[in-house]
Amino acid sequence: MRVLNVKLSNEKYNIYIKRGLISDIGREIRGIYKGEKIAVITDSNVQRIYGESFCLNLKKYGYKVKIITIKPGEESKSLEVAKNLYDKLLDFQISRGDLIITLGGGVVGDLGGFVSSTLFRGISFIQIPTTLLAQIDSSIGGKVAVNLNRGKNLIGSFYHPKAVFIDPNVLKTLDKRFLYDGMAEAIKYSLISDKSLFERLNIYKDEKELMYNIEDIIYNCCKIKKRIVELDERDKNERMLLNFGHTIGHAIEKYFNYKNFTHGEGVAIGMYNITKKSEEMNITQKGTSDLIKKVLKNYNLPYKLNNMEKEKILKAITLDKKNIGKIINIILLEKIGEGFVKKISKEEMKEFIDTKGVV
Ligand code: GLY
Repeated sequence: MRVLNVKLSNEKYNIYIKRGLISDIGREIRGIYKGEKIAVITDSNVQRIYGESFCLNLKKYGYKVKIITIKPGEESKSLEVAKNLYDKLLDFQISRGDLIITLGGGVVGDLGGFVSSTLFRGISFIQIPTTLLAQIDSSIGGKVAVNLNRGKNLIGSFYHPKAVFIDPNVLKTLDKRFLYDGMAEAIKYSLISDKSLFERLNIYKDEKELMYNIEDIIYNCCKIKKRIVELDERDKNERMLLNFGHTIGHAIEKYFNYKNFTHGEGVAIGMYNITKKSEEMNITQKGTSDLIKKVLKNYNLPYKLNNMEKEKILKAITLDKKNIGKIINIILLEKIGEGFVKKISKEEMKEFIDTKGVV
């Protein structure tokens, strides 16, 4: 088993990575939680595949378990669904000393984490992410939140899990589009801070080879995220690097009302386009955007921004909670493996968006 120890100013926790980890999860949980009750929050897709065996295994280790299932999808990340979860947890007579497990993708982790952070001012929770995106990004770093109609993640806090358990085998049942969605974030990590990971991501020739190496990819991405979160827990400096591709990416997701592009697909388009422009401005080493395009194509990810209205993209950018105020922090690359934060005005942002045809 690979273990990463996240050390924060006031707490620490481990990220455990191992194939097959969830098949005997009770054994792992017993090592860190001595209580009796566990509430498992999941969605109906994950419940159908893993719910029963997961809960049976926890019961085998003596736990009293209640599984609470939400509808899959971003719409569930709402205050209404959170309220429903509070009621179900109270029906289970959960107390402050008990444990919540979030078993699922980013929606389950963010929502379940938010509920854990607020019920009784905080109940311990453990993240068991089941999508690649959640395994390498959202389950680590303590960002928990729900959405409002006017924007994503507007209500939330920093609340770290007691542990994160990552089982790469669960990705075998993940829809392929969502496997590649997560690969966009893996590519992001390599671009901002790990050239050798970037080189490895370029040589895997098919899905079989990718899955053979997936544990290593997850470990390397989590290691980068852990390091960045330790440096800047509250997202004021270095952590902003994790937003490479996200300024344009979030705007594209919103542009199409979250229907045409997944998060990773938006980020893929964002990473390529911002780099193409920064290369033209002589900020980024020549040839970098072509290398990005090549790796994105390898993983079935889009890169083109054409046929979108520049003004609409800019409007979506200024509505993003990260861009309130006069200054926008954009992330650019010096070259592959070296990202940096640049402060620009909203006016200057226009120069970074080119909606003309891209080949
Ligand atoms: N997903 C970006 C962060 O955790 O800061």
